[in-house]
Amino acid sequence: MKEVEKKKYPHKHILGIEGLLPPDINYLLNLSEKFSLQLSKREKSSFLSNKTCINLFFENSTRTRTSFELAGKKLSADILNISVSSSSIKKGETLIDTAMTLNAMQPDILVVRHPDAGAVQLLSEKVNCSVINAGDGPHEHPTQALLDALTILRRKKVISGLKVAICGDILHSRVARSNIHLLTTLGAEVRVIAPNTLIPYGIENLGVRVYNDMRLGIKDVDIIIMLRLQLERMSGSYVPSIREYFRFFGLDREKLNYAKNDALILHPGPMNRGVEIDSELADDLDRTAIFEQVQLGVAVRMACLYALLENKK
Ligand code: CP
Repeated sequence: MKEVEKKKYPHKHILGIEGLLPPDINYLLNLSEKFSLQLSKREKSSFLSNKTCINLFFENSTRTRTSFELAGKKLSADILNISVSSSSIKKGETLIDTAMTLNAMQPDILVVRHPDAGAVQLLSEKVNCSVINAGDGPHEHPTQALLDALTILRRKKVISGLKVAICGDILHSRVARSNIHLLTTLGAEVRVIAPNTLIPYGIENLGVRVYNDMRLGIKDVDIIIMLRLQLERMSGSYVPSIREYFRFFGLDREKLNYAKNDALILHPGPMNRGVEIDSELADDLDRTAIFEQVQLGVAVRMACLYALLENKK
């Protein structure tokens, strides 16, 4: 782990990884590492006492919402959770009106997940407080990329020079986009692997190499990030069948043999066993770091909350 850099996080919001510089990313990662040590001692701190964080989720979430809640509580913030199903959005209130209403309650941070790309940025322009993007459509999921990077750093010590394969539904994946921005910014070689129907047009412009053959794509890689098929975002048929998809793009031990012997498997969850990953392989703790990702997600979210509010203390 690098020396903690003196420079603080210079932005008001965390809306995406795109545009962040290496010192911004390293600052958040180093802070996350410190908070993970605090968590391992099961300690709570009072850094954010008298601060209010609102989690506003327009899409379902298990990991992100609960880890933001836990992160805020570990820092002694007051946390409010608002889900669409129990809010006035069900009565037709717009995103902006909802945001302005919450803004009037003077929160310090809004954590927002929304199904549309750009919605969180739009909302950030209408409120006074800091905003964290907890995932906006297929656009970005910055805290997921940060926790993936922290997991990689824990296991491999560096990111620069690593070969990383991101495999699966790249087209609909905000996790893929945020990871591509972060990993290329920190000097990794990134490959994306999927059938052509699940590769977004122009993805090469983000500095990645595209593969349609999984065995070629994962040859000699250090890290494999598996993604699920986001059926809820698909309106047509993108793969012939789930069985065919698993045969060509599902990670099993035979395909894993093409990667480096110590290649590490990550998955942001939720995982579809037998679709993008073999169920027995997913449970192999020597090869996967899926639960470590979840654990480090709390530390990363503590770091993000803290970094946005430390200048306001
Ligand atoms: N990885 C992730 O964003 O999971 P959730 O949808 O459960 O938050």
